[in-house]
Amino acid sequence: MTDEARLADFEARIARGEKIEPGDWMPERYRSQLIRLIQQHANSELMGALPEGQWIPYAPGFKRKMALIAKVQDEVGHAQLLYRAAETLGKPRHEMIEELINGSSKYSNVFNYPCDTWADIAMVGWLIDGAAIVNQTIMQTGSYGPYGRALRRITYEEAFHLKQGYDLVVTLITGTSAQRAMCQEAFSRWWWPTMMFFGPPDKQSVHTEVLQRWGIKPKTNDEQRQIWLQKFVPKILELGLEIPDTALRRDAESGEWHITQPDWNEFFRVINGDGPMNRERLALRRLIYDEGSWLRRALEPHLALPKAA
Ligand code: COA
Repeated sequence: MTDEARLADFEARIARGEKIEPGDWMPERYRSQLIRLIQQHANSELMGALPEGQWIPYAPGFKRKMALIAKVQDEVGHAQLLYRAAETLGKPRHEMIEELINGSSKYSNVFNYPCDTWADIAMVGWLIDGAAIVNQTIMQTGSYGPYGRALRRITYEEAFHLKQGYDLVVTLITGTSAQRAMCQEAFSRWWWPTMMFFGPPDKQSVHTEVLQRWGIKPKTNDEQRQIWLQKFVPKILELGLEIPDTALRRDAESGEWHITQPDWNEFFRVINGDGPMNRERLALRRLIYDEGSWLRRALEPHLALPKAA
């Protein structure tokens, strides 16, 4: 078969809703786009565990500590599931981890912001894991089999993370005036990074067209953002939290929420390494990687691992 015929057959399979598996023929660009996207997703899970992990010793009470330990363990497990899915496309896991550590591979913008108070941990669990569930519930219906199957498992566990985050928020909001103030202050800081979580506006998105053509991204960035707004704005208002976007309004006809566009210059600065916490978080990830090198050396002969860096 000519490449044109193979491409036509591949696109007919996508149109029929078939799942593409690792051994199937696929355009090189399909493979490289999936590696980029899944690798960055795995990186995000691994980096997201850092701010939450640092709060484990300071969690207010044994039950909160146990729940946070379980959540952090889940996030690291999600990273491994996703690196495994990316490996099925031919990229070794150690290469992806090294690219994360040397700063040449991205991770989600949201994990470059400080988590100075316990209310930040509440917002990560509620707003950010809520955004991840919106995104992953959509992406799990995508055309690449191993990614969709990994996301089904991950989304199931994220449901617990969302409940944990919401319970933290409600506890603060119904607590003392100091707790309410701490909750509002953290919420106001997390609103804009959450708006950026789903990526730039569709007209600025460089990958959406090809990802949609080949069934990888069933809904666009703006469509995903709008689904999050539909789910979360009523809950936010019900809790009595003030939304920092004073121009936020609901279109009476379409029911859509119109937002003020976030500062996309900040977004591109943050995702390219210049956020408030990028350096500190990557340095911590590098330290953990280096401290684990003895284990990679010990496993080398058994797992045919490449020479430990
Ligand atoms: N954080 C960091 N980078 C982001 C981002 C975010 N929240 N949103 C978009 N970007 C990056 C993209 O990776 C791309 O950069 P690149 O070409 O160097 O990879 C650039 O911004 C343009 O964005 P876009 O064209 O919209 O990228 P996309 O089609 O990949 O869409 C996502 C962005 C996040 C919606 C998409 O990548 C996705 O669904 N990823 C899987 C889910 C995930 O990673 N979730 C985070 C888990 S916490």
